[in-house]
Amino acid sequence: MRIRKKKWARPELAACPFYIGEPEKAAGTWKTYFEKEQPLHLDLGCGKCTFLAKLAHREPAVNFIGVDISQDILGVAKRNIEAEFGEEPVENVALLAFNIEKLDALFAPNEKAARIYVNFCNPWQKAGDHKRRLTHTRQLETYKKILAPGGELWFKTDNMDLYLATQRYLQEAGFTILCKTDDLHSENAPDNIESEHEVMFTAQGIKTKAIIARLD
Ligand SMILES: C[S@@+](CC[C@H](N)C(=O)[O-])C[C@H]1O[C@@H](n2cnc3c(N)ncnc32)[C@H](O)[C@@H]1O
Repeated sequence: MRIRKKKWARPELAACPFYIGEPEKAAGTWKTYFEKEQPLHLDLGCGKCTFLAKLAHREPAVNFIGVDISQDILGVAKRNIEAEFGEEPVENVALLAFNIEKLDALFAPNEKAARIYVNFCNPWQKAGDHKRRLTHTRQLETYKKILAPGGELWFKTDNMDLYLATQRYLQEAGFTILCKTDDLHSENAPDNIESEHEVMFTAQGIKTKAIIARLD
């Protein structure tokens, strides 16, 4: 995703109580970081957080970490979260800028997530780039270090090749696919929250493909 540099993003994030400025120091702190100790879900490549803002507001009994590599995008995400929560305090969200390829560095061995969301990640179409996909087997091996037993990966994409390849990656990494669809919006999925890219691709007539998989 290309986004113009936003001069205001860094100072706004620095002053934001739910932004973590030094994520490399976060490992070992997650149990006490949030207001309440409760299940932890991650949104990887959260972008502008139109999805995470609604989800976290709807599910106060879950703590959420939104991770994106771009501080400019996270500046917009911070504003979207504040807009969604309005006057209510944002107690169950943490945002941080970090490269997901090194995600395990943010967690101590005893800190586990119950669920990981990956929505509309870059499909990296060229064969030489497949390893950079956020659902590639290599990346799933990193998520396995963070996910609790029985933890789940919730994945959505516009890209058919990535959808099919991700099923293979999940099997290679030892995940069990609980459900999958090549047209999520044709299914009965009343709880689905559309992400920014889901709205964009749907408007172009591109179907949303989705997979839920479990780590046994
Ligand atoms: C296509 S956007 C999708 C945003 C959002 N999930 C959605 O569905 O609208 C992909 C996002 O992933 C982020 N991203 C890509 N590779 C990343 C990486 N290795 N580490 C952290 N963020 C990454 C990008 O900065 C971008 O915001």
